[in-house]
Amino acid sequence: ISPGRRVRAMTYNGSVPGPLIEARVGDTLVVHFTNRLDEPTTIHWHGVRVPANMDGGPHSQPPIAAGATFEYRFSLLDAGTFWYHPHVHEGVQMERGLYGAIVVRGDAESRVDAEGVLVLDDVLLGADGQIAPSGDLLEQHNGREGGVSLVNGRAGVELPFRAGQRQLWRVVNAGSARFYRLALPGHRFTVVGTDGGRVPTPRGGDELFLVPGDRLDVLVDGIGSPGSSVALRNLPYGRGHGAGLTEAVDVLRVRYLPDTPLPMLAPPGGGPAIAPFAIHGVTPRTVTFNEMIDRDRERVVFMLNGRSFPDVPDVVTRVGATEVWDLVNESEMEHPFHLHGFFFQVLSRNGTPERDLSWEDTIQLRGHERVRIAFRPDNRPGDWMYHCHILEHVDNGMMATLRVMP
Ligand code: C2O
Ligand code: CU
Repeated sequence: ISPGRRVRAMTYNGSVPGPLIEARVGDTLVVHFTNRLDEPTTIHWHGVRVPANMDGGPHSQPPIAAGATFEYRFSLLDAGTFWYHPHVHEGVQMERGLYGAIVVRGDAESRVDAEGVLVLDDVLLGADGQIAPSGDLLEQHNGREGGVSLVNGRAGVELPFRAGQRQLWRVVNAGSARFYRLALPGHRFTVVGTDGGRVPTPRGGDELFLVPGDRLDVLVDGIGSPGSSVALRNLPYGRGHGAGLTEAVDVLRVRYLPDTPLPMLAPPGGGPAIAPFAIHGVTPRTVTFNEMIDRDRERVVFMLNGRSFPDVPDVVTRVGATEVWDLVNESEMEHPFHLHGFFFQVLSRNGTPERDLSWEDTIQLRGHERVRIAFRPDNRPGDWMYHCHILEHVDNGMMATLRVMP
């Protein structure tokens, strides 16, 4: 992270990111967890359809005290790329390195020559070379963006690539408030999966966009020449209030091996079709996103429906009911929306229907945008969180509970 220095971090099993968990659909994941921090924590299995009491959210699991243990145990129902992180004091614990990726494979994986996970993050180092303590009002408002760009916990990563090779990149955005708009000059990306697994039709493009909490499974074909190299860049992107990148930053460097090119693989197939939810007759619920500066107490307050966690009234529904939510951002700043427990479909943005349906648990909500989503809780009743995935915004109240009754 910081050449020539030791940077103090919080870790799972001594590494940042924590161990990569690889499994197959139908496997049972058992994690014997011991909290050796000197503060409480939990683990949230972001995107994994766990039972509510395994979800690690503030209303589903009491925090695991310093020194205490807990056994997480659940079966893995879906193929895809997921991740795990604490759900206590997120702006500190995650910023300091508590996160890791989960890969669950199914029977119908894309044919590739090589694959890997790219967990993206950025850290803010202080003058002493250590991760800076939580910052001022502006940082609380905009969310922390750091000047050191990390891939799998390291700065300055080089990724070997064989010409002609097809690589599958499972990209996870574990940053506090960093949005990634990635480009690899001269190359194209083919998105084959989103948060909830494979998309029906692979999507080609020049850029990848990931808000905090997001995942994309992407095929990259090595069309560069042997011996050449090219940087994966994070392109400028404003996310409101002057926050975001104003100049491109290198995330990693793809280095082509001198070897002779491999034959290119044929275009990938798609995943199973996604049937749109029938929403006729369903009364949509509105969730507004707004913010306020509390000058007396020198803090920013982030709200859903005008209230801050834990004072936001619960949304109450039941297993099997179709839910339609209108997410309405009343602020200029973007708020990446995350729902625990259930994958949803984005139906429309500002009234314009989405062209391609996908299963999502984390999406972009632009400034003053209105996004309609739909989902249907399967048989896992309990309390589930929904919140903005900018960590300072969660920490300052932009979170609420969905209560699913049996
Ligand atoms: Cu990754 Cu409640 O979030
Ligand atoms: Cu937010």
